[in-house]
Amino acid sequence: MDPLEELTSFLRFPSISTQPEHALDLVSCAEWLREKLTAIGLTATVYPTPGSPVVVAATPRDPAKRTVLIYGHYDVQPPDPLDGWTTPPFEPRIEEGRIYARGAADNKGQILAHILGVAETLREKGSLPVNVIFLIEGEEEIGSPNLASFLREHREELACDLVAISDTAMAPGNKPALTYALRGIAAMELLVRGPARDLHSGLFGGAVANPATVVARLLASLHDGEGRVLIPGFYDAVRPLEPWERAAAADLEKASGGDEAIKELAGVTELFGEKDFTTIERIGARPTAEVNGIGGGYQGAGTKTVLPKEAFAKLTFRLVADQDPAVILAAAEEYLRNQTPAGVLLEIVTGHAGAAYQSDPNSPDGLAARKALAGAFGAEPLLLRDGGSIPILATLKEILGVDSYLLGLANPDSRIHSPDENMLIENFLGGIRMNQILLQELA
Ligand code: BES
Ligand code: ZN
Repeated sequence: MDPLEELTSFLRFPSISTQPEHALDLVSCAEWLREKLTAIGLTATVYPTPGSPVVVAATPRDPAKRTVLIYGHYDVQPPDPLDGWTTPPFEPRIEEGRIYARGAADNKGQILAHILGVAETLREKGSLPVNVIFLIEGEEEIGSPNLASFLREHREELACDLVAISDTAMAPGNKPALTYALRGIAAMELLVRGPARDLHSGLFGGAVANPATVVARLLASLHDGEGRVLIPGFYDAVRPLEPWERAAAADLEKASGGDEAIKELAGVTELFGEKDFTTIERIGARPTAEVNGIGGGYQGAGTKTVLPKEAFAKLTFRLVADQDPAVILAAAEEYLRNQTPAGVLLEIVTGHAGAAYQSDPNSPDGLAARKALAGAFGAEPLLLRDGGSIPILATLKEILGVDSYLLGLANPDSRIHSPDENMLIENFLGGIRMNQILLQELA
């Protein structure tokens, strides 16, 4: 079958892990993968978990060969806001060299490129130069809540020499890149409860603390005017950049159009953030606190003179080595509680968390990964620290004891998590070649 047709079928599943009503779509999508992986000659299993199933597929284990575990995820982020899409998110559309759909780049196009690369080598040569294990989960976008225990239970079946992942992006300008560091993440929700019911803002305004104002003040207290986080101790464990890393960031900046290219991608007229660091450093090597959502009070048309009984905010911290997510969440909670006025109740619920991850781009496997990217995309890969997170990376290291190498295939303008997510078809097809070279180089 044509690779693009296969990708189209994969993209039709609305495998949205955060929405319980899509649980069966996740199961069908996992089953589709099992059939695909079986059809190319691997032994594939769909393992149920308390959440979405995990798909594992492997070649027979030849003890004389090294073993590469290829990780990916078949779950996707919600497609919202739906009115931002040119065509429906689960009806893939091909136009001007791109395929558009939720999951096109994150992560279905990227993981399928690896599957098809393995299929191609098996068809051409009958066997692979290394043992391969695919581990494809359905809960990455919600912080992989069931994967750590799965890894512990299946430690022997998953034993390997390294992990290869395509779930990141190329450098600006769509230049090939090996991502050697990703940020960690820690999520938190705040709910401020005040009066017993919504009140008339004239009769009670000035007499009681307004929960929406309290949330706003708490959120505003997170940063100074330049974007530096004010939580005491927040930066204490941050590992400084090595000189070679600053040089790699400068190379990247030169090769990729610098701040202008980032402005263009973000659709802003000015960038904003901590001074003393370049934008590339701020994205990849500095921790942040971001408000992801905020709400409370009247949201309808017109005005309503109300003093809302409650208000909320959703936050995530992006972390770098060697910040500990639990320490950061505790420090944030203490800081916010100390500022909460009497008369309101601050409820804090912490969510998923995962530490930052770094691997060595100059290790033998790092060099093999760079050769594979160069061979498939025709240019020496840049070295990238990216700002997104794959929270399971630190756990893979802890439980399986191996390093992960990130060979991103998404185009920088793939709009992952946004409307009109897309993947350049040349990146998808290049990814198939990349996998073939990679397995050869890793042997
Ligand atoms: N594929 C992304 C992570 C990514 C994308 C890293 C581009 C670097 C460059 C992944 O699927 C993702 O979105 N992860 C979430 C994790 C979270 C929901 C726990 C993230 O980073 O927000
Ligand atoms: Zn994602």
